Amino acid sequence: MFDNIYKDKKVIITGDTGFKGSWLAIWLLKLGADVVGISLPPQTLRDNYVACGLSERIAHIDQDIRDDEALCKLFAEYNPEIVFHLAAQAIVLEGYQDPHNTYSTNFMGTVNVLEAIRHTKSVKAGVFITTDKCYENREWVYGYRENDRLGGNDPYSASKAACEMAVASYIHSFLNGTSSANIASVRAGNVIGGGDWGENRIIPDCIRALEKNDPIILRNPGAVRPWQHVLEPLSGYLKLGSLLYSDGKTFAGPWNFGPSSKNMITVKELAEKVVENWGHGSILCETENSEKFEANVLHLDISKAVNRLKWQPKLDFDDTVRYTVDEYKVSAKKREAIYEQRIEHIIKYMDI
Ligand SMILES: NC(=O)c1ccc[n+]([C@@H]2O[C@H](COP(=O)([O-])OP(=O)(O)OC[C@H]3O[C@@H](n4cnc5c(N)ncnc54)[C@H](O)[C@@H]3O)[C@@H](O)[C@H]2O)c1
Repeated sequence: MFDNIYKDKKVIITGDTGFKGSWLAIWLLKLGADVVGISLPPQTLRDNYVACGLSERIAHIDQDIRDDEALCKLFAEYNPEIVFHLAAQAIVLEGYQDPHNTYSTNFMGTVNVLEAIRHTKSVKAGVFITTDKCYENREWVYGYRENDRLGGNDPYSASKAACEMAVASYIHSFLNGTSSANIASVRAGNVIGGGDWGENRIIPDCIRALEKNDPIILRNPGAVRPWQHVLEPLSGYLKLGSLLYSDGKTFAGPWNFGPSSKNMITVKELAEKVVENWGHGSILCETENSEKFEANVLHLDISKAVNRLKWQPKLDFDDTVRYTVDEYKVSAKKREAIYEQRIEHIIKYMDI
C-alpha cells in the first residue's frame, strides 16, 4: 500500500500525542517510516499515545508550534522528507473559551510549519490537516466541494479556514516553482476511534459513562454528524502524502476525505450503536430533539479524492462503531497489547 513510499523515510508528525496524530504514527511505523513527533505532552495517561507506548517507538519532542525559531531548528536538525501537520487546538467549544490560543496555535502554528518546510530543503511533501468546518456553511443539502467558499462563524472553524488560505498562499507564492516541496490541505468529518479521551466529544463521553455504569446523557440527540473511523481519513492523508512525494505538483491543493452519506447519522443512533457493541448501558436524552435531519448539516463531496486518488471510505456505520468500541474495550490492557490491537486493525483495514 502507498507504493512503499514511507519505508525508511523520515516523517515529521506535528500533534503526535493527539488522537489522530498517534494513530498516524502507528500506521507510519507499520509502513517502516522513521517517525519524529512534535507536539505538547499528552493530556492523560489513557491517551492513545501513552496507552500504546509510543514514546518508546518514535522520537518525540515536546515543542510548542507557536515558537517559530525552535520549530525551524527542529526541522533543520531532523531533515524530514515528509510532514503531516495535525497539531491544533482541535475543540470547537474551547475556541469560544480561548479564541486567542485557538488562532495563535491553529493559524500562526500552521504558518510556522509552512515556514519550516520552506526553509528545509529535504522536505518533498507536506499534508496540512484542517476540517470540514473550514467551509462557509450555506445550508446546502448537497456536499461541499474543494473550491467552495471558506468561512466559519466560530473561532475554531474560522482559524481553520485561515489555515486553508495560508496553505494556498504558500503553494502559489513559494512552493509551486522550483521548490521540491509539494503541499496539500485535507478536510475530514467527525472522526472516532480508540484512545480519544477528549472532553466534550461524544464517543469519549459515552465510554466514560459506560465505564461508570452511568446513563449516557445526550444534549443534542437529533444532531446528524458525518462519523468516520480514524483510519478512513488517515488512509487518505497517507495516499495523498505518497503521491505528493512521488508524482508532485498536480496533487497540491485542497482535498476532502469525508465519509459516505450513509455515515451521516444522528448522535442518538450513534450512542445506541455504542451501547449495543459495549454490551450494556442506557441513554438519557436531555431534549426530545429526534429529527433525523438538521437543515444545516454540512457534508463533504469526496468526488475529487475518489476520482483522482482512487480513495474511498471502506467502513460502513456498523463497522465504524464496532472497530471503535473494540478499541476502547482493550483500554485496561498492557501497552504492548493495545499497540498490537491497533496494528491488527490497521492490517485488517488495509486488507479490505
Ligand atoms: N477529531 C476530529 O474529529 C477532527 C475532525 C476534523 C479535523 N480534525 C483536525 O485533526 C487534527 C488532529 O485532531 P485530534 O482530534 O487528533 O486533536 P487532539 O486534540 O487529540 O490533538 C491535538 C494535538 O495537537 C497538539 N497541540 C495542541 N496545541 C499545540 C501547540 N501549541 N504546540 C504544539 N502542539 C500542540 C497536542 O499536543 C496534540 O498532540 C487537528 O488539526 C484537528 O483540528 C479533527
